[in-house]
Amino acid sequence: MRPLFVAPSILSADFARLGEEVRAIDAAGADWVHVDVMDGHFVPNITIGPDVIKALRPHTSKIFDVHLMIAPCDPYLEAFAKAGADVITIHVEAGPHIHRSLQAIRALGKKVGVTLNPGTPESVLEPVIDLVDLILVMSVNPGFGGQKFIPYAVDKVTRLRALAGGRPIDIEVDGGVTPETAPLVVKAGANALVAGSAVFKGGTPDHYRANIAAIRNASLMARGEAA
Ligand code: DX5
Ligand code: ZN
Repeated sequence: MRPLFVAPSILSADFARLGEEVRAIDAAGADWVHVDVMDGHFVPNITIGPDVIKALRPHTSKIFDVHLMIAPCDPYLEAFAKAGADVITIHVEAGPHIHRSLQAIRALGKKVGVTLNPGTPESVLEPVIDLVDLILVMSVNPGFGGQKFIPYAVDKVTRLRALAGGRPIDIEVDGGVTPETAPLVVKAGANALVAGSAVFKGGTPDHYRANIAAIRNASLMARGEAA
């Protein structure tokens, strides 16, 4: 079994205090920092780019798990790599050459992530399974935080874990993850959990700590590990 990782999405942080918010989730027990990059074209919302990631980099030594919701992505991969991304995840729907784009991330020396929208079947990943370190299963339509978890994602995780076989691939779930939904995807084989609103609700570092612990404990119980 792969280790369990909780990855708060800073999409739900206070953007006016992003550095402080990143330090707060680091101190509150985040394993990774999930960064949602949106372009107003691939998804109907606009967030941040490489310069903001670069500015945040000195605020934590935790993994920067960068989720690119942009099309095209190829022209920007190097900028995100240089900005300090550790994992770069791209959407299969974002361009016609997913195989080439995944190789480009590998060539930049970064962990290679691939993701698919709720309406995309997982079979699209069969030809590229040997190219990736991480598969992100979207359990909401990307673009916004605070949406409701789409239960179909659970079966998708089960099938993707089977497709991954013995490969050391992390399976991450993003969208509507809470202490209630996390156990469902963890039992199906997910080992990395993105959570925006469920981590940042309450708005203080004490809330962040309790919220992260609640997701982690529910997930550890689902794995049969002591919480
Ligand atoms: C959605 C983003 C998610 C989002 C999750 O497009 O990819 O990472 O922040 O937010 P919650 O956890 O609130 O559903
Ligand atoms: Zn995301």
